[in-house]
Amino acid sequence: MNSTNFDVKDLKLAPEGKKKIERGSNSKGNHDVKDLDLASEGRKKIEWAGQQMPVLRLISGEFKKKKPFAGLTIGACLHVTSETANLMMALHAGGAEVYLCASNPLSTQDSVAASLVADFGISVFAVHGEDNKTYYRHIDAVLAKKPQITMDDGADLVSTIHKKLKIQISNVKSGGKLLNIYNIMKDWEFLGSSEETTTGVIRLKAMEKDGALQIPVVAVNDSDTKHLFDNRYGTGQSTIDGILRATNILLAGKRVVVCGYGWCGRGIAGKMRGMGAMVTVVEVDPVKALEAVMDGFLVDRIGKAAKYGELFVTATGDKNVISLENLKRMNGGAIVANSGHFNVEFDYDGLVKFAKGRKILRNNLEEFLLPDGKKIYVLGEGRLVNLVAAEGHPAEVMDMSFANQALAALHFVRNRGKLKAKVYRLPKSIDTRVARLKLKAMKVRFDSLTLEQRKYLSSWQEGT
Ligand code: ADE
Repeated sequence: MNSTNFDVKDLKLAPEGKKKIERGSNSKGNHDVKDLDLASEGRKKIEWAGQQMPVLRLISGEFKKKKPFAGLTIGACLHVTSETANLMMALHAGGAEVYLCASNPLSTQDSVAASLVADFGISVFAVHGEDNKTYYRHIDAVLAKKPQITMDDGADLVSTIHKKLKIQISNVKSGGKLLNIYNIMKDWEFLGSSEETTTGVIRLKAMEKDGALQIPVVAVNDSDTKHLFDNRYGTGQSTIDGILRATNILLAGKRVVVCGYGWCGRGIAGKMRGMGAMVTVVEVDPVKALEAVMDGFLVDRIGKAAKYGELFVTATGDKNVISLENLKRMNGGAIVANSGHFNVEFDYDGLVKFAKGRKILRNNLEEFLLPDGKKIYVLGEGRLVNLVAAEGHPAEVMDMSFANQALAALHFVRNRGKLKAKVYRLPKSIDTRVARLKLKAMKVRFDSLTLEQRKYLSSWQEGT
């Protein structure tokens, strides 16, 4: 597809299925959602989440007054949840025209999508359970709106922009300064894209290293007020939530194997231990493996852990962390779940091919009968279990992640022309501001340095 015929009018809409699919254009914009009648349910969910998101609410209030996005279009590819809805509304309050599609075919909350369209005038292209073709068509539908700013959770918008569109970078002199202007089409200037998740940041940094990245990107995931809280506490809790909703198993006394000891993995391992599980960590990074040991976990290789684990959870951002060979080594009754962004962390497709039979036992719980008679259980088709089998991270933690996303969008507006085609972190001052606002909302008082202490810390002469 070239940039000249890239228009929403050309997009084929999803084929009619058994379910009612609402699509088309109403007075409030284009959309493709399951059922607008779900809007009142979604609205209540959005309002409840919004009550737990005081930092985003404050930023939204500022956006509403100052309209920093007036005249701009923002396209987002995020999990369509009640928390994301609050972010979309904040951007809309700031004057942006907002278009949203899903960052996973199974994480969309259809009622939330309906409410965004019907109640808030935000265009959504997302239907829970959409097939891969529809998923990518929805990404195209958002890009067809020519967003100047995009937001990703998994880098699908950025990757599609680079695969399907031509970006022209020009240096324009303005007011004595040389500006870097990124144009996708003549009338489509692109300011930048922000990325929510570890997997997306890994993809973007690989693009940067290869010299393939052609637009400025902010890795929101790298902000302390994002990964230290969302990845650790959010993933920790919501992964357990998803596993329990799908299985209703007892975690106390369970032999749990957590693959990956990044911020997500350590969140999962810590919370599992808190529930009384006996946790083994699988890692490839020696420093992280050592940390896991000193945090009191057993560290082992997957080939060995596969033989004694009862519940396996992957959270690495990598592929084939549990190969088919290791799935075969597991004891009958083993349960396997993934909490990483893509459904490639264990070899689900290999298991599907290898198994003699499969059946769905409960929502998001699938039994595989292996040729030797063993049964292995997989949650949510290997897709991220916290969003597929539960509702993702709680709003309190998404409050900080999405405050950072909102401020990243503002960062692109304020730094128009100044950014290079590279992966940036948000400035430290934004992290500090988000943390202060969160503490204030939580009514937590904390100390500040005295003048004497500040001087002491900035001087090198004073020793004793
Ligand atoms: N990622 C993890 N949890 C999420 C949530 N509740 N909403 C949007 N994205 C998420």
